[in-house]
This record gives sequence, C-alpha cells and structure tokens, in this order.
Amino acid sequence: MSRKMILLGIALLGPALTAADVAPATRSVADLKSFYQTRCASCHGDDGSARSATGAKLRGSDFTDAKAMQRKNDEALAKTIRKGVFFGFAMPSFGKDLSEAEIALLVKDILRKAEKGRAISGKTP
Ligand code: HEC
Repeated sequence: MSRKMILLGIALLGPALTAADVAPATRSVADLKSFYQTRCASCHGDDGSARSATGAKLRGSDFTDAKAMQRKNDEALAKTIRKGVFFGFAMPSFGKDLSEAEIALLVKDILRKAEKGRAISGKTP
C-alpha cells in the first residue's frame, strides 16, 4: 500500500474510531426531559397526555392516565420508543438516538411520572 493510501486510511478511520471510542455518557433524567420536550412533546404533548392538537389527532395514549399506564409494561413501552410505530411513519424510532439505559429511564422516571397539566420539561409551555 502506498503511503498516500495509508494516510488516507488514517484520515478516514480516525474520526470514526474516536466517535466509537468515546461512548456517549448516559443522559441524565434532566437531559432526557429536555430531549422529551424537543423530540416527543410535539406528538405526546408537553405534559405527556397527548392532548395537544397533534396528539389528539394521533389518538395518542395518555401517559398521565395512571390506570391506563398500569396495564402497560415497561418493556412494551421501551420497545415502542426503540422501534417507533408503524415502521416509523406514525412515530419515529429512537433506538439510534437513545441507549437502552436512557430508554429505561425515560419510561420509569419520566413517562410513568407524567402528571396532567405539568410540562415534563418543567418549563411552562
Ligand atoms: C410523530 C409523532 C410522534 C413522536 C415525535 C413521538 N411519538 Fe410516541 N407515539 C406516537 C404514536 C402515533 C403512538 C401510537 C399511539 C399511542 O399509543 O400513543 C405513539 C406511541 C408511543 C408509546 C407507546 C404508548 C402505549 O400506550 O403503548 C410510547 C411509550 C411513546 N410513544 C413514547 C415516545 C417518546 C418517548 C417519544 C420521544 C423520544 C415519542 N414517543 C415521540 C407518535 C409519536
């Protein structure tokens, strides 16, 4: 292999390796709340009740409805976040944006604690 080729290889591989080496730190609950606000709230509502215009149109589940939420297990909710709904058409998949640990936190510490009328991000909408 010529020197030029080797240098080109390093130039191409370098950034890829550093990106893979530095595994992104797990987002905190606070970070995930902001993530929810920017990536989920448009459909599921600021408070998670899906009572926004879009949420209602999509017949979104109400995360603030404790009774309804009791019937769903964490893994099923996590799977939806990972895979999306209807091949990503109804809801995008977030398996590439969120780690498993982050998805678990999102379900347990955020969606399951959603309260009607209280914005998940903590910010007043
Ligand atoms: C483009 C709109 C859209 C976006 C953005 C979106 N969702 Fe959804 N989501 C839906 C729809 C539609 C459904 C299916 C109806 C329902 O169950 O709410 C759904 C379902 C779900 C469910 C399953 C609910 C159940 O009762 O089984 C979870 C959990 C969920 N979404 C979480 C999220 C999270 C977390 C985000 C952001 C990371 C997100 N969604 C972003 C549209 C969206």
